[in-house]
Amino acid sequence: MSSQDLQVYLNGRFVPVDEAKVSVLDRGFLFGDGIYEVIPVYGGQPLRLDEHLRRLDQSLAAIKMKSPLGDKEWSAIFDRLISGTADQQIYLQVTRGAANKRDHSIPAEITPTVFVMCTPIAPIPLDGIKAITVSDIRWDRCNIKAITLLANILLRQEAVDQGAAEAILVRDGQVLEGAASNIMIVSGGKIITPPKGDTILPGITRDLVLDLAKNLGIPTEERHFDIAELKNADEIWVTSSTREILSVIELDGKFISGGIPGKTWKTLQSAYQDYKRALREAPSTRT
Ligand SMILES: Cc1ncc(COP(=O)(O)O)c(C=O)c1O
Repeated sequence: MSSQDLQVYLNGRFVPVDEAKVSVLDRGFLFGDGIYEVIPVYGGQPLRLDEHLRRLDQSLAAIKMKSPLGDKEWSAIFDRLISGTADQQIYLQVTRGAANKRDHSIPAEITPTVFVMCTPIAPIPLDGIKAITVSDIRWDRCNIKAITLLANILLRQEAVDQGAAEAILVRDGQVLEGAASNIMIVSGGKIITPPKGDTILPGITRDLVLDLAKNLGIPTEERHFDIAELKNADEIWVTSSTREILSVIELDGKFISGGIPGKTWKTLQSAYQDYKRALREAPSTRT
């Protein structure tokens, strides 16, 4: 599909992407004052839609906004934009809207800007990725899925500049998450991941992987770990909606799990693919 063929939703209208225009006074543009969500879609069915919409509500509440649309209205927009049954991703963004002047304080009367698009999911590297550890330079409200991603961009670029695919963020000695992913390690037969709180995004994939592990009878633990425990782990994974579960096979230039994806990753990867298959084959709930 060329970009001209892409239909998007903007403020109540479905238009070709090239015709979707936002005011330069939009606070998303001026301040990064907004929230986003990314929802993977398999066989035309959004994965864990309710969880994504609840996280959207939480992010909006955290920046003193309410969802401009109800669940049914969101679903109706998604249904219009999802095309065919190939794997795709919904990107939705709500900004506080355009004010009539640039001022940090939140205007009393302002209409949010709502944007949604649906695009293909890129292929996922199943043979594992390289990652580096970096010092976390983000703010203290990492649980909010804010569009203000400058720190994440710089951290991810640091990884890319070093030939790696992800940066693993460390703050006060604790390993937190990736620049655009959650982190899990396998150690002593357990899957360990940092607990939810202000220092990580509550990942939907993270929760799904923990649920799948519990169903498989693999022990899980939500607790902090340090960089030494990370480096000594049997396996390291990063999880996210569009890249699922990626096995980290090299960290800071040293092989992890012998430089190939580990056996627990293979088990979870297979369970994750089964989960996607079941979603693709489930009777459609779409209107
Ligand atoms: C900082 C951060 N942590 C974690 C995640 C994973 O979240 P999810 O599994 O909901 O995609 C993301 C996804 O973009 C992210 O940006």
